[in-house]
Amino acid sequence: MSDQTRRRFFLGAASAVSAMRVMGANERVNVAIVGLGGRGSAHLGIYSKLSEARVVGLCDVNQAARERSQATLVKNTSEKAKEFEDMREVFADKNVEAVSIATPNHWHALAAIWAMKAGKDVYGEKPACYNIYEGQKLIQVMNETKRMMQVGSQHRSTPFKMKAMEAIHGGLIGKVYSSKGLCYKRRPSIGHKEDAPTPAGVNWDMFLGPAPMRAFNELRFKYNWHWFWDTGNGDIGNQGVHELGIARWAMGDPAWPKNAYAHGGKFVYTDDQETPNTLTANFDFGGRELLFEVRGLLTNAEGSPGRRVGAPGNPAPSDSATAPKGGQPLNVMVGNLIYGTEGWAAMSDQGFQAFKGESNEMIMEERPQRMAGGDATGLHMQNFLSVVKSRKYEDLHDGLKNAVLSASMCHIANISYRVGRKVILADGPKFVGDNDANKMLTRDYRKPYTV
Ligand SMILES: NC(=O)c1ccc[n+]([C@@H]2O[C@H](COP(=O)([O-])OP(=O)(O)OC[C@H]3O[C@@H](n4cnc5c(N)ncnc54)[C@H](O)[C@@H]3O)[C@@H](O)[C@H]2O)c1
Repeated sequence: MSDQTRRRFFLGAASAVSAMRVMGANERVNVAIVGLGGRGSAHLGIYSKLSEARVVGLCDVNQAARERSQATLVKNTSEKAKEFEDMREVFADKNVEAVSIATPNHWHALAAIWAMKAGKDVYGEKPACYNIYEGQKLIQVMNETKRMMQVGSQHRSTPFKMKAMEAIHGGLIGKVYSSKGLCYKRRPSIGHKEDAPTPAGVNWDMFLGPAPMRAFNELRFKYNWHWFWDTGNGDIGNQGVHELGIARWAMGDPAWPKNAYAHGGKFVYTDDQETPNTLTANFDFGGRELLFEVRGLLTNAEGSPGRRVGAPGNPAPSDSATAPKGGQPLNVMVGNLIYGTEGWAAMSDQGFQAFKGESNEMIMEERPQRMAGGDATGLHMQNFLSVVKSRKYEDLHDGLKNAVLSASMCHIANISYRVGRKVILADGPKFVGDNDANKMLTRDYRKPYTV
């Protein structure tokens, strides 16, 4: 995009905001999906089946992804969408009312900021932002443009988790003093790959966007970009941000911690991955704490005893991946443990169990309902689409302002890990007396991919 085109794009955007129409309750929202890899394909599968949405735009820097998605859309709806390589053209398209962003992390905030400036509402994948600066900038732009933005933390729309959190907030286990998130997700080594010519049909410059220019490398392309600092945030900013968000939720969504310390490393493997596969992070919230652990290597599960394992009629489950039946132990690998003054609780996608006092008597148990698509992403998107129409930000299950705090916790942990010491926060998104840490609040954006 030339400077002149860019100026026209933003001028058009300003008038689009003021001309935004009020939508009828039964109207479909015209959605464009930006980023059509694994997660974008899931977005497409869900939106193309929701009566509240119509998919009108498909954008990816990879031609093969665009073509695959178009074929899926035609199969699901018998309709075609406009294809785009450059997301700025999506945002300039008046037919598009909302965008759903499923690019790699380093594009999340930039894409959402451009989209909101062009008058679009945004459903943006987690983490809300790639760094702490972007999160603050996103909130500023959302406030200025009066757009709605929900982040893809579908745990906030999962009925049994919502019920469990309501009970915790109501004092089920007393006052929560320690809230722990677990990301025990075994990851294989990514190995090593040499740089190679960019495959035909891929716009590598636009894939890298704000990240420094470098030669194409397959390991930095599909999914494994998570493990390189230029584009990803390691597993704490990947799977982990869900459980970090839930750990905050259990504490009543506090704002910034007072200080944090994270340590770990990339243990065992010798490969190209830059981010740690083992990380322990502690956040001090003054009189209570949040703990987080990433274990990418072999580990046991933690969890709840349920009824005593091995008691008559209650053998240990033979397959921990299968949702246990009522009263059976809940093995938590990816999930949460929450400790209160009067009891404790465990939660994962398999369920929720709470126990009282020293007796470990089970006082509440919830199990997930079967849902189309396997999780609550459809419900989370429906919540977003209803708010696109109502314009009531407070009805969003995980509006941007809260999701930015969850994402920022990942970034604080990564910064502490990378500077190798405890970091102290200045009652907000800034570190006290630590220039190295403060430099990591943002990045050098490669032009023209700037916020
Ligand atoms: N909410 C969830 O449960 C959940 C689950 C999986 C992934 N995610 C999130 O979704 C995002 C995507 O993850 P993924 O697994 O699909 O990764 P992926 O690598 O499979 O897909 C990313 C896609 O984005 C495209 N892309 C890159 N730069 C682009 C640009 N500038 N414009 C348009 N397209 C661009 C790539 O070509 C690719 O097709 C991640 O941020 C991840 O954290 C969320």
